[in-house]
Amino acid sequence: MSALTAQDLIGVIGAGAMGSGIVQVALNAGHRVVLYDAAPAAVERGIASIDTAYRRLLEKGKIDAATHGDRMARLSAGAQLADLAGARLVIEAIVENIDIKASVLAEVEALLPADAIIATNTSSLSVTAIAARLKRPAQVAGLHFFNPAPVLPLVEIISGKATAPAVADTLFATALAWKKVPVRCASTPGFIVNRVARPFYGEALRLLGDRAADVATLDAILRDCGGFRMGAFELMDLIGHDVNYAVTKSVYDAMYQDPRYKPSLLQKELVDAGWLGKKSGNGFYSYAPDAARPAP
Ligand code: NAI
Repeated sequence: MSALTAQDLIGVIGAGAMGSGIVQVALNAGHRVVLYDAAPAAVERGIASIDTAYRRLLEKGKIDAATHGDRMARLSAGAQLADLAGARLVIEAIVENIDIKASVLAEVEALLPADAIIATNTSSLSVTAIAARLKRPAQVAGLHFFNPAPVLPLVEIISGKATAPAVADTLFATALAWKKVPVRCASTPGFIVNRVARPFYGEALRLLGDRAADVATLDAILRDCGGFRMGAFELMDLIGHDVNYAVTKSVYDAMYQDPRYKPSLLQKELVDAGWLGKKSGNGFYSYAPDAARPAP
């Protein structure tokens, strides 16, 4: 079982929170990386956020200026999917929608060599079903990072029905080489973490809906007394309500609408309002510079 080497080019599709974080993980491991997004402005924002993250490390003395320069020099902006053509591994981190993911990955598959690995960072969708829509399903797997990807160690390596064992092995070895903690799992709805996390969010949303306590109180109890690193509401704000709601809907549907996974209308309301959490400036909390209290 051998990992990819630093000589291997990595392509990342989607320059949002996850794509930008995954790019840093690959740059830190010495790879050249091409970052592509359907929205060119998103690529610019993504690269700027990566640069900012490295500047913070520089200020804290965790990296030196040469390392910062070297990492940024190995990153390039893709203007089109064809710019990923030489990649040994493509990691997709776009919107949590199976039709859009499958269509973008089919397009990129046609550009890649036959032995290239196509990985999806999906939080919940069936890797088996995504792979089945491509020509080389054996080369497709889930590579699921957690937010923020440069910081959190866990990576789920998800095998679909047709994923070649050698592909999962290579991803496992590569994640280890990238100083991550990989765990293998099969393609089931939400995989491991997002399956067990659904009741955490769902029950917190039900408590709020039942007016048991307000957002800040519930978060404080979960965080300061319950032993969770973050409260459910601040964590949903960090993940993004569009992403979290899409993941809940996907798990709910995939589990034949088991009421345990039923999505919350409170969260749908935030999505409808465009209050997507930290990334949009409003969610359960307000992130305006002068805000000190929950928004809703
Ligand atoms: P995001 O909303 O921050 O970024 C998504 C990016 O994808 C946007 O820049 C958008 O322009 C781009 N995009 C959308 N459609 C595209 C297309 N057809 N072609 C190319 N680019 C396209 O989303 P985020 O949070 O980075 O999530 C991305 C994926 O990662 C989703 O599948 C999500 O479920 C998964 N994920 C999210 C986590 C989180 O905490 N936010 C954690 C782990 C996985």
